[in-house]
Amino acid sequence: MSHQIALSFEDGVTRFVTAHPNETVADAAYKARINIPFDCRDGACGTCKAFCESGKYDGGDYIDEALTEDEAEKGFCLPCQMVPESDLVLQVSGTSEMAKVSATTFPATVRELTWFADNTAAVTLEVENRGELKFLPGQYMNFAVPGTDAVRSYSFSSGPAADELRFLIRTAPDGAMTTYLKERAAVGDTVPLTGPMGSFFLRDIKRPVLMLAGGTGIAPLLSMLEKIATGLEEAPAYPVHLVYGVTFDKDLVELEKLQRYADVIGNFSFDYCVADPASAAENKGYVTQYITAGQLNDGDVDVYLCGPPAMVDAVRKYWDARGITPANFYYERFAVGATSAVAPAAPALAGATA
Ligand code: FES
Repeated sequence: MSHQIALSFEDGVTRFVTAHPNETVADAAYKARINIPFDCRDGACGTCKAFCESGKYDGGDYIDEALTEDEAEKGFCLPCQMVPESDLVLQVSGTSEMAKVSATTFPATVRELTWFADNTAAVTLEVENRGELKFLPGQYMNFAVPGTDAVRSYSFSSGPAADELRFLIRTAPDGAMTTYLKERAAVGDTVPLTGPMGSFFLRDIKRPVLMLAGGTGIAPLLSMLEKIATGLEEAPAYPVHLVYGVTFDKDLVELEKLQRYADVIGNFSFDYCVADPASAAENKGYVTQYITAGQLNDGDVDVYLCGPPAMVDAVRKYWDARGITPANFYYERFAVGATSAVAPAAPALAGATA
């Protein structure tokens, strides 16, 4: 059976290759003309050392100088020796430029444009060669804004298996994308998308998961939940909890979808809160007010956060004040209207930011 291998480079570019039965990751990458770093190709030098974020594999034969037992236990691996036994996500050392690959551009067609309020739009796009656009739940694409030279980045809110691609877009005053969406966008328009990009993606669920979303930062978490809902035959072995915070009631989007995930994913629950004191929501205030000790599990928790920079800072302070270091803290900061609306905080090859 063939397996899909996601090769995630240090600059956030991800490329997928197919490994056929008994084929090493190195051979699969070579056939796809992706030059991940190699030297001996014999398990002796350690040059190809990578970090496996998720999936199962046979590590192959190698010597301790190339990969120690301790490293192997932590998830490091040697692509020149390893044979996949499932789909894999690997963090490889080096940039995509060094590997002589670049992100691919896909012409996408606007199929639907829905406004939740005057400040948040859901855009549904279709690409012809959909099978070639593989991505990990949580990643983003760069949009070339039609009629301008501007590029904006948006995370998928749809899951990797969905035919159509969906994105949530928060408007910004005089923003290039905002002006396009409000004044010129029409069903049938072509929007070139480049990617996928980013190191903020769902890893194997090996402990309780706490998801924190601020505003349209809910988008990549929806993509992760869609993957969990469609990719698992049974409930995750550990609880997955989401706390979703917004500023005003009108900023709340996709609550029905979250409820649907809560209905279909055993072990998934969510809360939401609104900062505006005049909100009609039961929970007023900020996301950190609605995190419980049980969800933190004494730090043995994988945290995924997507929100504005102030939220990332607030959550870091929250950990510090409580003396908690989550097992893994994956986060993505975004700034509305920035050239890159999503600035990935890529975990190092060690596999985590903390
Ligand atoms: Fe030397 Fe893989 S290239 S150990």
